[in-house]
Amino acid sequence: MNNVHLIDHPLVQHKLTLMRRADLSTNSFRRLLKELAMLMTYEVTRDMPTQPIEIETPLETMTGQVIDGKKLVFVSILRAGIGILDGMLDIVPGARVGHIGLYRDPRTLTAVEYYFKLPADMAERDVIVVDPMLATGNSAIAAVDRIKEVGPRSIKFVCLLAAPEGVAALQAAHPDVPIYTAAVDRQLNEHGYILPGLGDAGDRIFGTK
Ligand code: URA
Repeated sequence: MNNVHLIDHPLVQHKLTLMRRADLSTNSFRRLLKELAMLMTYEVTRDMPTQPIEIETPLETMTGQVIDGKKLVFVSILRAGIGILDGMLDIVPGARVGHIGLYRDPRTLTAVEYYFKLPADMAERDVIVVDPMLATGNSAIAAVDRIKEVGPRSIKFVCLLAAPEGVAALQAAHPDVPIYTAAVDRQLNEHGYILPGLGDAGDRIFGTK
């Protein structure tokens, strides 16, 4: 799989396994998601450009490195994407945040947009789109389609879990968008759920089931 970054750090894999368990409480699911999001952000931002600046330590002058360019933009696909944002913003507190509201038509499994709000000045920014589950890929493709209309410098897609079908679909539609995930599972079922998966991420984050 081209352009897929599997984040196989032992801490990520351990926490993901705990999250898959059906008997995990909402509270623990949310906390683990936040921790995983922090760890994943560390990997996803590994190639961010830096620039040298001169600073004074208490002892002497030195040249340090700081992140270069405009602030990152995290774009969450509602509603489950919100669950990842917390951890990401802990690591990159200055990031801008956008939201895209998409629901899956349960009959056709296609993405229907009901909300779209991005920061005003998107040109030349780097965007990280977040959704815990890359299932059919329809929501991810629709989100990236819309984000490309505003001309950011780059787009990455981050999820916890992906289905092979979703990876293939997103790569076919947007081969320039790298996918970062903690696992690629076996398959989708007939309702568009990932197997073995972790169930409905939104329900598990918000305790709505
Ligand atoms: N969305 C989810 O929350 N879970 C899945 O398995 C697939 C899509």
